Amino acid sequence: MHKVMHTIDCLLRSTTLSMNVDHETHVRVLQMSDADQLFAVTDRNREHLRAWLPWVDSNQNLLDTRRFIQSVVDQFKANEGFQCGIWHKGSFAGVVGFHRIDWMNKNVEIGYWLAKEFEGKGLMTKSCRVLVDYAFHESKLKRVQIRCATRNTKSCRIPERLGFRKEGIALQAEYLYGCFVDLVVYAITDTEWAKIGGLQNGTSEVVLSGARPSDVESIDAIVKALYECVTFEPLKKPDYERLRSLCHFRAKFIPAKTTQDEPVSVLHIEEFISRSDNSARETRLDEKGSCEQEVGRKTDLFGNIAHVFSVYESRFSKSDALVRARGINSIQLVKDRGRWWILSIACDTERPENPIPK
Ligand SMILES: CC(C)(COP(=O)(O)OP(=O)(O)OC[C@H]1O[C@@H](n2cnc3c(N)ncnc32)[C@H](O)[C@@H]1OP(=O)(O)O)[C@@H](O)C(=O)NCCC(=O)NCCS
Repeated sequence: MHKVMHTIDCLLRSTTLSMNVDHETHVRVLQMSDADQLFAVTDRNREHLRAWLPWVDSNQNLLDTRRFIQSVVDQFKANEGFQCGIWHKGSFAGVVGFHRIDWMNKNVEIGYWLAKEFEGKGLMTKSCRVLVDYAFHESKLKRVQIRCATRNTKSCRIPERLGFRKEGIALQAEYLYGCFVDLVVYAITDTEWAKIGGLQNGTSEVVLSGARPSDVESIDAIVKALYECVTFEPLKKPDYERLRSLCHFRAKFIPAKTTQDEPVSVLHIEEFISRSDNSARETRLDEKGSCEQEVGRKTDLFGNIAHVFSVYESRFSKSDALVRARGINSIQLVKDRGRWWILSIACDTERPENPIPK
């Protein structure tokens, strides 16, 4: 039953899945358009990757990489897991993913690699943490496994840092360019993950340190920062780094429908950013700039939770007399670990049959 629901979910979210790792890093399911980047990074890192990964020699050209990505796309469509690219400060850094999910037994194995220049920053530990969390919370699996060659100490440190148990050594379990190597088997169950706090111990703290304290100290501050982030000069972009720092890792963006018949879109922040960029290019807003201003607000607050109905006006620039659009942002906020976080923003625009109340 769960698999069926998960499949429907996959179809609804089309063929993409993207998750924040920290305020500078995200993972996204590989797509064919990533082939050039993936091949270039693989090719530059042959010697480094060949030490521990058996597939490197069989990936010789762009066509091989495209074949691999096609298998990734098929795997994701079939709901059998996914392989994500990792982007750090906009650069392609490596790959992390689920090998085929064993739905019958509800378990999965994670595999990964990083380009040499991205080692030593904690990117893979943090990316794996996000995937383990996804496996338990979204896919409702019971066990996640990681296997590393006994002498691959850098790799072994990853499951160890994440609190995995060492279950034993699988002798001669992998054929690596002419010899068989032994693999350490690490695993963690859903109950063990919950006990050690899973994601709570990692990613949220990283995002926390990325925010300017003055942006997140009050409801007023975070709403003001939100409008500042999405305002930009001609030929510039919104301040997406600052926007990420305001949002909870699981924040949802629900833009206004462009036609009333289309289904509602519930987007992860990276999907929202890429959709906003595309739409700015299509409407040439990127050339004209955009100024979003709050002109009215209604706030409801109870303890650590708040809801803000924020009325906005959009212009190309602050000095424009002409208002391009008006609407309401419904912003859900939560106070946690000493700061405010955006949990969701749903928006609807003003139309003749849908005027903003006085
Ligand atoms: C395995 C591999 C991904 C490990 O890379 P890595 O950079 O050591 O792993 P992480 O990204 O988790 O970074 C951990 C390092 O960053 C440091 N670090 C910095 N900030 C950190 C943070 N916030 N959290 C965790 N570690 C952090 C750690 O101290 C550690 O550095 P150290 O090894 O000098 O102590 C990489 O070596 C690789 O791709 N190797 C080739 C392919 C391979 O072996 N794949 C795995 C097959 S099983």
